[in-house]
Amino acid sequence: MSRLRLALVALLALSLPAQADNTAQTIVHMLDYVSVDYPEFVRDGKVLDKAEYEEQLEFASQSAMLLAKLPAVPQQARLLVQANQLKARIVAKAPGPEITALAVALRWDMIEAYGLAVAPRTAPDLKRGASIYASHCAACHGAQGRGDGMTGKGMEPAPSDFHDAARMGQRSVYGLYSTITLGVTGTGMTPFGHLDEDERWALALYVATMGQSDERVVKGGALWQAGTGKKEIGTLRAVATLTDNDVHARHGQDVAAAFAWLKANPQALATIKEEPIAYSRRLLGESLAAYRAGKRDDAQQLALTSYLEGFELVEASLDTLDRNLRQEVETQMIAYRDLLRRGAPIKPVAQLAERIDGLLAASAGKLGHSGLSPTTAAISAFFILVREGLEALLVVAAIIAFLLKSGRREALPWIHAGWIGALALGGATWLAASTLIEISGATRELTEGITALLAAAILLYVGFWLHGKSYAHAWQAFIDRHLSAALRGGTLWALAGVSFLAVYREAFETVLFYQALWHQAGTGGHSSVIVGFLCGIAVLAVLAWAILHYGLRLPIGRFFAACSALMAGLAVVFTGHGIKALQEAGLVSAIPWGDFNLPVLGVYATAESMLAQLLVLLVLLATFFWSHQNNGNHRKPN
Ligand code: HEC
Repeated sequence: MSRLRLALVALLALSLPAQADNTAQTIVHMLDYVSVDYPEFVRDGKVLDKAEYEEQLEFASQSAMLLAKLPAVPQQARLLVQANQLKARIVAKAPGPEITALAVALRWDMIEAYGLAVAPRTAPDLKRGASIYASHCAACHGAQGRGDGMTGKGMEPAPSDFHDAARMGQRSVYGLYSTITLGVTGTGMTPFGHLDEDERWALALYVATMGQSDERVVKGGALWQAGTGKKEIGTLRAVATLTDNDVHARHGQDVAAAFAWLKANPQALATIKEEPIAYSRRLLGESLAAYRAGKRDDAQQLALTSYLEGFELVEASLDTLDRNLRQEVETQMIAYRDLLRRGAPIKPVAQLAERIDGLLAASAGKLGHSGLSPTTAAISAFFILVREGLEALLVVAAIIAFLLKSGRREALPWIHAGWIGALALGGATWLAASTLIEISGATRELTEGITALLAAAILLYVGFWLHGKSYAHAWQAFIDRHLSAALRGGTLWALAGVSFLAVYREAFETVLFYQALWHQAGTGGHSSVIVGFLCGIAVLAVLAWAILHYGLRLPIGRFFAACSALMAGLAVVFTGHGIKALQEAGLVSAIPWGDFNLPVLGVYATAESMLAQLLVLLVLLATFFWSHQNNGNHRKPN
């Protein structure tokens, strides 16, 4: 009982708001013990060990009490009901398996509701675990982990024997990790929270493997190499949270053997990548937990990584399935990061995180449906190309039309070099990104943002320049006299540059989208993707032809005006896209403004992107009126 009293003191000390994270973890830890120990002490409605039984009861009461004090989360009411039910069933001396099931369920719901990290970030290093064990633990637990160390002699309770298969079979690595972190109050097992997280995971895994038979591990290795268990237990999370008994009961002997091998060889998991959305959800949970614990910078970093290294990778595929959902996730993730940046109260932050988690789950559901139908694959391929290519096409076609109209054919090669070079470079960037260098999500967004803003700036410049010309009087004379000179200088570079930027920006992204689609469509769907692609090319070609054909028939003044209006419009659109990309890279803040998006116009509902667009619009309007007046003044004398 002294063990219990001390536990209470420790728990009360933990229940300060700043340590909400610790409190939640403590509850989880207690529930873990209830699920493992209760069945040992109560059989057929009879209490076999009164002190132990009372301890389990106290753990359940404590869990309910501490739970009520935790910061509010939407699931809290339901968790409290579960905790009180657990307590009531223990009072009623319910059968062991029932209590275990209740405790395990509550424990998992707690982990999820409070976003507790239940798995190591990287595969633990068992060698490191072995050496820390020898220096810190062997004195009590014995060199071989049989609970027979010199210092541990005569301790009550005795140090655990890690070869006790019956008990170890019920303990997850996460459970052992919690014991190592928090200790068992009132026993010789003091907390080892001062060791860093990696060291504690290494110890937990090392301890978990001590009692495993070599023969079984070897057999499990062969099974794992042959593909057994990849689906069921092939994540660090599974290795950390499942018990031997769970795996055996759910998946049978072979997967259980593979599980044993995996615990002894966790580095085998380093090469298996976590599914991107699962990764996003995990990191989002960790971000929320970090925020709860007052670690704002960590929370922000985790939120950003959650987006860029997880969701963003499947964005392209999701986009072809459900564009609105994709946008919603993106918008909400930006809003979430913004809340963190502004240090918002925990409640709205947690609510938003839960909402995003639901959206991510929905996305995973959408993506999980195996394969795309041939029609969907073709339609997706078509829309990807038209959507990504349209803006670029408008820019390039307008420039070409302009050069033809002004009789400047010799300048065309510059423009062609611009967009063809951009296509080639876009392809090369993709190739490099998928083979040579790791281009992080942040770098990708940064490139996209900078090229978009640069293109917007050049478009503005070219638009002004054209606009100025559209008021000239004697057109032919003007072209003959001035344009040649003007085109020789910086403007020619600007035109070639904008044709390059407009295309490069889209090229790299389009290839990424296609890569995802190609992968998703499966071998059977590849021909559909190609058909969709060719249809897209055809539509873009017709559009280019129409712009050139009809554009060239316009009277020259109106043509110049139309051209400059188009460029001005595109400058506004590009500005929106550019700011958005920089927000995704985490470089620009994102204050939500309403709840609508119009990607075609580059309009996203954040203050920063819309203000930037507004600014560009104002500049456009100002110069428009200014040049109107100037030209008016010029005209009067005539
Ligand atoms: C001073 C003695 C002592 C030292 C040092 C010590 N332990 Fe323990 N440990 C114990 C005792 C005693 C228990 C049993 C507690 C109980 O039965 O509730 C225990 C229990 C455990 C458990 C729980 C096992 C289970 O079945 O739930 C784990 C895991 C553990 N120790 C790991 C470690 C690790 C890892 C180290 C070194 C970092 C360590 N211990 C160092 C005394 C010690």
